[in-house]
Amino acid sequence: MKTKILITGGAGYIGSHTVINLLKAGYEPIIVDNYCNSEEWILDQLHTLTGEKIKNYKADCNDIEKLDTIFKNEQFGGVIHFAALKAVGTSVLEPLNYYKNNIGSLLSIIELMAKHSVPNLVFSSSCTVYGEADYLPVNEQHPIKTAESPYGCTKQMCEQIINDCLKSNKLNSAVTLRYFNPVGAHPSGLIGELPLGTPNNLVPFITQTAAGIRSELTIFGNDYNTKDGTCVRDYIHVVDLAEAHVKALDYLGDNKPSVSLNIGTGRGSTVLETVKAFENVNNLKLNYKIGAKREGDIEQIYAETSLSEKTLNWKTKHSLEDAMRDAWNWQKYLGTK
Ligand code: NAD
Ligand code: WQD
Repeated sequence: MKTKILITGGAGYIGSHTVINLLKAGYEPIIVDNYCNSEEWILDQLHTLTGEKIKNYKADCNDIEKLDTIFKNEQFGGVIHFAALKAVGTSVLEPLNYYKNNIGSLLSIIELMAKHSVPNLVFSSSCTVYGEADYLPVNEQHPIKTAESPYGCTKQMCEQIINDCLKSNKLNSAVTLRYFNPVGAHPSGLIGELPLGTPNNLVPFITQTAAGIRSELTIFGNDYNTKDGTCVRDYIHVVDLAEAHVKALDYLGDNKPSVSLNIGTGRGSTVLETVKAFENVNNLKLNYKIGAKREGDIEQIYAETSLSEKTLNWKTKHSLEDAMRDAWNWQKYLGTK
């Protein structure tokens, strides 16, 4: 029998890609989502892509009674907890929503995992926990810095909660994945990121500008201490990121110790390099200008990946160009809907 895995936030950007890889690996993903930042037609896309109807429940992870019934019915072998609010700027304006949603949902998940003896948790954390890194590439031993935003703080607090629950045996085992900058889309162009309103993140802003939805991209600052003056990030293709979740579940299935891992490529790219990669691979010109620095932006960050590669027996396979091609394919597909 296939192991059932609860995928909270499974209709979202990273969750939907992970569902595909889980199916391929022989797991049975079951989605719980309240669609606060995703749309139900993504389930139809998953059906088209995989030929399988993915079992799903419309529920809020803070609704512990509803979730309790789902846990009772399904007998999960593990949980991947993606469900969270993720807009850094909005979290500054609406901190209560962010703390309630992101912390509350993790608390209910851990409580129900304990109650129903579900062993393995994979948690979505972020490189934001490191803040402005003291050294690069940043490794997992780097100190956790004071959070720049309530969003970042929820990720730090969630990691702390997970560690405390592991110590007290309220949680059996967990892998915390600290994602760097997820970009790109499924190569089919049928699923990808669905930003609400004006995107805050670079790549959806690039693709919407190329599609004519935005008139131009503003590059936030070009006098940073980097090779071309623009900020450096570690952009990881979402399909590589999805695969890391499968490997994390495999790892936990082998009763290995709980761990926190960086999930990036190990390579830093500047904003200008990213724009150029988009232009080159898609053979088009992007309308962009250099603007003021964005408050709170970190100059540069990229991952030390040796621990995650060794621990998970995993490595990224896609290039920045692949991600830029796939992101554009997805944007073009959205234009046809
Ligand atoms: P997303 O918004 O596309 O997906 C999150 C999904 O969770 C959405 O479908 C949303 O409807 C759902 N959701 C939110 N709160 C819920 C709740 N209380 N109950 C049920 N469903 C709920 O985001 P994503 O980019 O796929 O991110 C997934 C996870 O990865 C999040 O925890 C996010 O903080 C983390 N993360 C994302 C990035 C990034 O840049 N995308 C980087 C680092 C970490
Ligand atoms: C990338 C680079 C911008 C938009 C955020 C969160 C972080 C994590 C990933 C969840 C930066 C530049 C952007 C634009 C630009 N998410 N940029 N013009 O800031 O690295 O991280 O997403 O955990 O917590 O903070 O990602 O995509 O917003 O920016 O020049 O219109 O692109 O300055 O250098 P960021 P981003």
